[in-house]
Amino acid sequence: MSTNSSTQWGSRIGFILAGAGSAIGLGAIWKFPFWAGTNGGAAFIIPYIFFTFTIGIVLLIAELAVGRSGRGSAMHALKVTGGPVFAVLGSFTVLSSYIILSYYSVVGGWCIKYLLDSVIGRLVTNDPKILSANFEALVTNGPVNLAWHFIFLSMTCGVIALGVVKGIERVAKYLMPTLFILMILIIIRSVTLPGAGIGLEFLFKLDLSSVTLENILNAMGFTFFSLSIGCGIMVTYGAYLPNNTDIPNSSLWISYLAIQASILAGLMIMPAVFALGQDPNAGPGLVFVTVPLVFSQIPFGAVAAVFFNICLVVAALTSAVSLLEVVVAYLQHEWGLTRGRATALCYVSLFFVGGLSALSFGAGSEYTIGGRILFDFLDYICTNVTMPVGGLAVAILAGWVAWNRTEKQINLVRTYPKALNRFICFSLRILAPALVVVVIATGI
Ligand code: PHE
Repeated sequence: MSTNSSTQWGSRIGFILAGAGSAIGLGAIWKFPFWAGTNGGAAFIIPYIFFTFTIGIVLLIAELAVGRSGRGSAMHALKVTGGPVFAVLGSFTVLSSYIILSYYSVVGGWCIKYLLDSVIGRLVTNDPKILSANFEALVTNGPVNLAWHFIFLSMTCGVIALGVVKGIERVAKYLMPTLFILMILIIIRSVTLPGAGIGLEFLFKLDLSSVTLENILNAMGFTFFSLSIGCGIMVTYGAYLPNNTDIPNSSLWISYLAIQASILAGLMIMPAVFALGQDPNAGPGLVFVTVPLVFSQIPFGAVAAVFFNICLVVAALTSAVSLLEVVVAYLQHEWGLTRGRATALCYVSLFFVGGLSALSFGAGSEYTIGGRILFDFLDYICTNVTMPVGGLAVAILAGWVAWNRTEKQINLVRTYPKALNRFICFSLRILAPALVVVVIATGI
């Protein structure tokens, strides 16, 4: 049955960077800066950090523990741990990864297009109208959008075809440190602009009137999305973990790096946006319209733009790779396909399925579901329903159904204090399910 059950990460640091690579994606670089800004700055960031280090980390630990004790695809791991009902939920997480990747790849394609434009010097202009029109023209042009989606998907499949160690781990080991270095270089440029302080205030100043239930719930939803919880990724990555890797400690590192990247992304964008009097609430257009505009007005902006777009591509690629690995591992284990064939099958089918999302901005925009075009609908369902449901399933499995197995995995390398084990158990049994239900209810 299994074709890769003996595959293991080459090193602990390689695994941590691959896990962080999954977590650090467009969510950190694109969503975080404007979400933090529009949700009250510190009133969003403090709960986000709090949720990440409590419930987020506990769910990461649970996913990795289920993955390592199950040793197989996400579906297989949930099945051997919890029986047939969990097998269905496991398949559900695989489907969820597949669907997320289908539209994530479209955005990945935009990132590559913007990177190439910035390299040949065609991106940066100081006319916001041209930038908006260029972005609009890109997303509504079906064939062009399909072509960039195809290119991004090809890169993702290329990495996955190379395998866990030679593909995912190697890419993460080179690209993640590069990402952090580039972010720091851009931050140096951004925070030294005159007027940058207002951007820092916008991001970090605690405005007590912004401490609202809604902002706190948004922070919680963002925590799940940003740690890639609930779509089988850490369960799949956990299957490749050697027994001598300490799961709680690695989860702490992954969470820390994810938070660090979000904050760096905020620091990279917001001070510059404010220094140049742009609108911080530009929302999704912030990265593709406002940021190029900002770069057009600062010294060495053209170089910074290239760096910034490399960051976007790297972040998107390492997350996309993690999504595809979930599906490929499933096809290898459950369908008995070789890695090459499984990747090829995903390559072809995702081109078409993702193509529908790529077309949904232009010609396809007349077809809507619940008032949303296909791209928005899939993003909405995955973020608000399938990912939280996946997280809930793992929490119940690891906390109620198989706590003994989870506890054993947590303490396999070193025995953690009883109090910590109790906290994790309580979080998995009560806290996480309760919070996830709230996230789903408010999301819908
Ligand atoms: N965590 C990723 C990000 O922040 C998004 C993601 C979600 C990636 C789910 C994979 C799976 O962009």
